[in-house]
Amino acid sequence: MNVTVRGRKRPFRTVGFDTAKNAVLLVEQRLLPHEFKVVAIRDFRATAAAITDMVVRGAGAIGATAAYGLAQGARAFRGKDLSKFIAHVDVVQRTLAEARPTAVDPVNAMIDVRAAMAAGTTVAEQQSLALSAAQHFADEDVAHCRGIGIHGAPLIRDGMRVLTHCNAGWLAFVDIGTATAPLYAAQSLGRKFHVFCDETRPRCQGASLTAWELAQQGIAHDVIADNAAGHLMQRGEVDLVIVGSDRVLGRTGEVANKIGTYTKAVLAHRHKIPFYVAIPLSTIDWQMASGMDIPIEERSGEEVLGAWGVVRAAKPGSRGLAAAKRSYVRIANPTSTARNPGFDVTPPELITGIITPLGIFKPHQLSKLLR
Ligand code: MRU
Repeated sequence: MNVTVRGRKRPFRTVGFDTAKNAVLLVEQRLLPHEFKVVAIRDFRATAAAITDMVVRGAGAIGATAAYGLAQGARAFRGKDLSKFIAHVDVVQRTLAEARPTAVDPVNAMIDVRAAMAAGTTVAEQQSLALSAAQHFADEDVAHCRGIGIHGAPLIRDGMRVLTHCNAGWLAFVDIGTATAPLYAAQSLGRKFHVFCDETRPRCQGASLTAWELAQQGIAHDVIADNAAGHLMQRGEVDLVIVGSDRVLGRTGEVANKIGTYTKAVLAHRHKIPFYVAIPLSTIDWQMASGMDIPIEERSGEEVLGAWGVVRAAKPGSRGLAAAKRSYVRIANPTSTARNPGFDVTPPELITGIITPLGIFKPHQLSKLLR
């Protein structure tokens, strides 16, 4: 998507790769919305750490990062012994897969890369196939988001008020995003609508990332406190909800997404407001049989007990965040501890439809995609 940096509008992808430097290129999301910076990560272990520490986050973006990280690790191998190379790649894959547990996209992305690599008969061939497969995954992620936009745009009519949760925008993918794809497609058709971004405590991806994205694209929006959604729905101020997902079970239609998604789905159901989930095909888990088995990431309690922000806003033309001083402030009682589950699971009966690159499906009809 286009980002205006120092007065100049330029297109960026969230995740990329520098072949010459064997480096994964990432938009440093922890600095947004106060500073826009792309960082080069030069080693697969550092790439895994960038996923864990949320330099990059969002299911599709960490999927592409894992795919590039696998290629990066494979390309760093020196030697011609294929069995030693395969043992090394196993370690790389495991390290990247363990970086974050809930999203299935990194797992699916690396399965694709390994399958492509298997066609090579030498280390050099497999290294080259790894990079082209990672590139293919990233390009396909963009194509899937574009497809979601095409199928989802008719849902966004003039004057609508749309609620979204967390960030399922281009920062959560390689480009365009899923929940935002229908919004961007509707905007390009000239439709006028308004978006409510749930703040999404504890890390505030809605307030910091989705709001920043929408501002960059000139889409009217308000950030709302997570607890405000029910009130707005009750007063008839929300017409539609669209969220993303980190793992959709193809066999049951259950949807894992950022903590608080389930609450919004219950509220939308109560108020008869359509609730859609937008996903690329890499977010579907065809194996798992129950949402209770989805590994739910438990993050540090510090995220709940306090918040990150800037002491004062950066002045236009200043050096951005460096001048604005990003810092952590403690909010909760000093002696209290916290629980911090990062995701929840929404059951299919609360979901109106799943927007995919191949069309909109009822949650229990996803198996049609296999055909
Ligand atoms: O913890 P995050 O920021 O990686 O969580 C992201 C979300 O929950 C998104 O809504 C989700 O990844 C779906 S869109 C990729």
